[in-house]
Amino acid sequence: MSRNEIDVEQLAKDVTAPLADEQERRAEVSLRPGSLADFVGQRELVGHLEIVLGSARARNQTADHLLFAGPPGLGKTSLASIVASEMGAGLRITSGPVLSRPGDLAALLTDLQDGDVLFVDEIHRLSRAVEEILYPAMEDRRLDVMIGRGPSARAIRLDLPNFTLVGATTRTGLVAAPLRDRFGFIGQLDLYDVDELTVIVERSARLLEVDLDGDAPGIIAGRSRGTPRIANRLLRRVRDFASVMNHQVVDGDIAREALDLFGVDEFGLDKIDRRILALLCQQFARQPVGLTTLAHACGEEPSTIEDAYEPYLLREGLLIRTPRGRIATERAYSHLGITPRAEGLF
Ligand SMILES: Nc1ncnc2c1ncn2[C@@H]1O[C@H](COP(=O)(O)OP(=O)(O)OP(=O)(O)O)[C@@H](O)[C@H]1O
Ligand SMILES: [Mg+2]
Repeated sequence: MSRNEIDVEQLAKDVTAPLADEQERRAEVSLRPGSLADFVGQRELVGHLEIVLGSARARNQTADHLLFAGPPGLGKTSLASIVASEMGAGLRITSGPVLSRPGDLAALLTDLQDGDVLFVDEIHRLSRAVEEILYPAMEDRRLDVMIGRGPSARAIRLDLPNFTLVGATTRTGLVAAPLRDRFGFIGQLDLYDVDELTVIVERSARLLEVDLDGDAPGIIAGRSRGTPRIANRLLRRVRDFASVMNHQVVDGDIAREALDLFGVDEFGLDKIDRRILALLCQQFARQPVGLTTLAHACGEEPSTIEDAYEPYLLREGLLIRTPRGRIATERAYSHLGITPRAEGLF
């Protein structure tokens, strides 16, 4: 088969997007690290977690409640399931937006088995009423429920089994302070470096039975914008490319050719990243731009820009934040091939 017969548009679609759709999330399950030993990178966080989990095991108790924070695709959900397996505990999964009424959470809590891990994804999106059920549950393993209405209403108190709440959020600052205070441990996940992503790509290639050779893992890792999810996705797309081209082994040249074809540049920037930088370099040339204005101009939510896109642009020195707003750096201009102008809007 030739390059012309490859559906480039399909393979290139959202290839570097930080977020995953449902189908991809299902595919990700098989690549999840199953234990702390398998979990690459985040050395400091993993070290602390080993202590927290190890000491709970030594005391024969459930672990403290844990909160994981960080940009999408860095391993928060993976860590939640690792916590359950390291503790030999059952895992129940839910999320902030799903628990819309206090009764939803109460039903889930009363159904827990002793020692279970309850994972609440997007915990910053819990409603206040649901959060209030959670406070005594986390603190005293107690559930206060109102039975009946009006003058005959009465409160009853239920004891809950031992459990560990694991919360995930894209930013700790989004979690209400009283909720945040009830976690015994808060782990911040940071973008991965290329060496760590190379190890992740090599591990995933073994699991997917893709034969990578030479500098192919490093090339894929280098264009993954610091994110294991994107590294795994690029690996799958490179594999697809190699298989239509009838290559049994993927070497550096094939990886480079595939990624160039899908429009993944050497920074791994996605179309929104490029749009952000182009807006800052051209439309708002040299002027600090507020987050809301930038988000509007990109057609994205401000929180998506802040949580999913900015961390990588900041780390790579393509964008800086000033008290008056965001500015593109010289590096961004040269990456986009734009000559900086000294004057204002044009
Ligand atoms: N440290 C790691 N080592 C190996 N693979 C990892 C690591 N972190 C993440 N991954 C891989 O990246 C994929 C995405 O990770 P995960 O779903 O845990 O991210 P997340 O932080 O929960 O993302 P989101 O915020 O979008 O829910 C997983 O399928 C897993 O294979
Ligand atoms: Mg997740």
